[in-house]
Amino acid sequence: MRKYLIVGNWKMNATHLETIQMVQKLSYRLDVSDHQRVEVVVCPPFTALRSAQTVIEADHLQIMLGAQNVDWHESGAFTGEISPEMVAKLSVRFVIVGHSERRGLFGETDDVVNKKLTAVLAAGMTPILCVGETELERDSDTAGEIVGRQVREGIAGVEPDTVASIVVAYEPVWAIGTGRTASADDAGSMCTFVREQVREVSGDAADAVRVLYGGSVNPGNVAGLMAKKDIDGGLVGGASLDPDTFASVIRYWM
Ligand code: PGA
Repeated sequence: MRKYLIVGNWKMNATHLETIQMVQKLSYRLDVSDHQRVEVVVCPPFTALRSAQTVIEADHLQIMLGAQNVDWHESGAFTGEISPEMVAKLSVRFVIVGHSERRGLFGETDDVVNKKLTAVLAAGMTPILCVGETELERDSDTAGEIVGRQVREGIAGVEPDTVASIVVAYEPVWAIGTGRTASADDAGSMCTFVREQVREVSGDAADAVRVLYGGSVNPGNVAGLMAKKDIDGGLVGGASLDPDTFASVIRYWM
């Protein structure tokens, strides 16, 4: 059984003080039964991780922490970068790798994404591997080719038993931050396709991998998306910044 997972990707938003308030407000809106049903993760910026960790531990919250990115080296002369161990020591459990903004704006290739995913696993955390086609790729009917390659190259070289623990987020680039969501049917069939790509590389580990949908998820469309058999949760950007809205996404069945 795959447990639902809803991840808030705050991107470059929220100071450490705002983060404390956002985490607390979100926690007030969730109860024990929500956490039994759904794992909840927030990914604030690096500068807010320590503050978020402190609130989560002091108040024994069940909200988990994620980072939005890491470098793949262990340490060294990489000015401005953050290592996997640095975030792991802040009780970070998940790390987003290969988000389309990192691929598109910061030039991350499938090879770099694979190195990051491997480094995150080596540091004992769970990578959330993001994949997805651009509008141009979709219009030229190459979405399957692109997404398939991103999945297969992203997990290349990882033992099947380990692959079983990872998370893959299918996020069509044209749906991110645009208010345009893939239809539940399209999102569902792409997530099935993603799982089949994992199966090609890692066999039955694919059945354990959690596949998330991301791209303009909101309280109004989340239930339809979550009803699809191969969608195990969501990666939520804009709608995760307001605790009330994010709580409504998390409590999608109510
Ligand atoms: P969005 O972002 O929900 O604002 O579309 C999703 C993401 O980029 O992970």
